[in-house]
Amino acid sequence: MLEARGLKDFSISTWYEIFKDVALKTIIINIPNELLEKLRADTGEMKIEEVCNEDYLNHVKNTILSFNGKAFVKSNWHAPIDAKFASLGYSLTVTNIDDLLVYFASSEIIMHDFSHNNVDSFCIALKPWINIHPASEFRCIVINNILQGITPRDWPTFYAHFCEDGPNIIRALTDFYKQNIYEKFSRKTYTFDVILNFPENVTLLDFGPLNNKTNLYAFSWKEIQAIIKKNSNQEVPPVFRYLESDMGIMTRSEALHKITQSQLT
Ligand SMILES: Nc1ncnc2c1ncn2[C@@H]1O[C@H](COP(=O)(O)OP(=O)(O)OP(=O)(O)O)[C@@H](O)[C@H]1O
Ligand SMILES: [Mg+2]
Repeated sequence: MLEARGLKDFSISTWYEIFKDVALKTIIINIPNELLEKLRADTGEMKIEEVCNEDYLNHVKNTILSFNGKAFVKSNWHAPIDAKFASLGYSLTVTNIDDLLVYFASSEIIMHDFSHNNVDSFCIALKPWINIHPASEFRCIVINNILQGITPRDWPTFYAHFCEDGPNIIRALTDFYKQNIYEKFSRKTYTFDVILNFPENVTLLDFGPLNNKTNLYAFSWKEIQAIIKKNSNQEVPPVFRYLESDMGIMTRSEALHKITQSQLT
């Protein structure tokens, strides 16, 4: 579990104002205590009208409408991705306040978020629903203010264009990092997630901690931990790690094992 400082630093309610020009538009709505208590109590059916006042409900409804009636929802830190079974067509689209409550209430990830007791405020972060091509999602690994690694988030999946586009992907994400993230985020070691639409349209999705719990996709914690331990300030170009050939369906660890040894320093 993240310590209080980490919870604050990685909460979208902390970083969004600083990065809103390069991040996916988000409207952040605080969760009133009564609603938080109901969600935490996990009593299933709840009549939201009895928990929140009309102004609050209208605010949430109008926010969803402002995204053409189709939104994506997160807590301060996470999306309820484990609530997909509760969603029509597995999509997690929020079209009304009930969708939102169902996803939150049926997500262990969100319930765990809400169980923290050392946080000032909890929020509903609403974003426009966008169709994201899986190959356009990347996680960037920053160690000591140096962008060290870039990994596709759709892993392990083979995308033939990564080989040819690799240098462009590295360039676009390095430029984005240097212009918009470097020294603006409150930590020196962390991850950030982006969508890259060619040739160089980059949208920031999220920040996250870098530790042994982090999903590093194409990288292993062991190799990343070794770089952290070195504690070097020397700038090196980032490694873009991806599947270089179609090896059929593999588990994550099989893929990690098979990829060619990278030049991470
Ligand atoms: N606005 C959006 N519209 C549609 N799909 C989205 C949107 N934002 C994110 N997604 C999809 O949902 C996935 C999870 O979103 P996100 O990375 O923000 O969640 P997270 O809980 O922070 O994940 P992690 O714990 O891995 O950091 C993304 O990989 C993306 O495919
Ligand atoms: Mg995240």
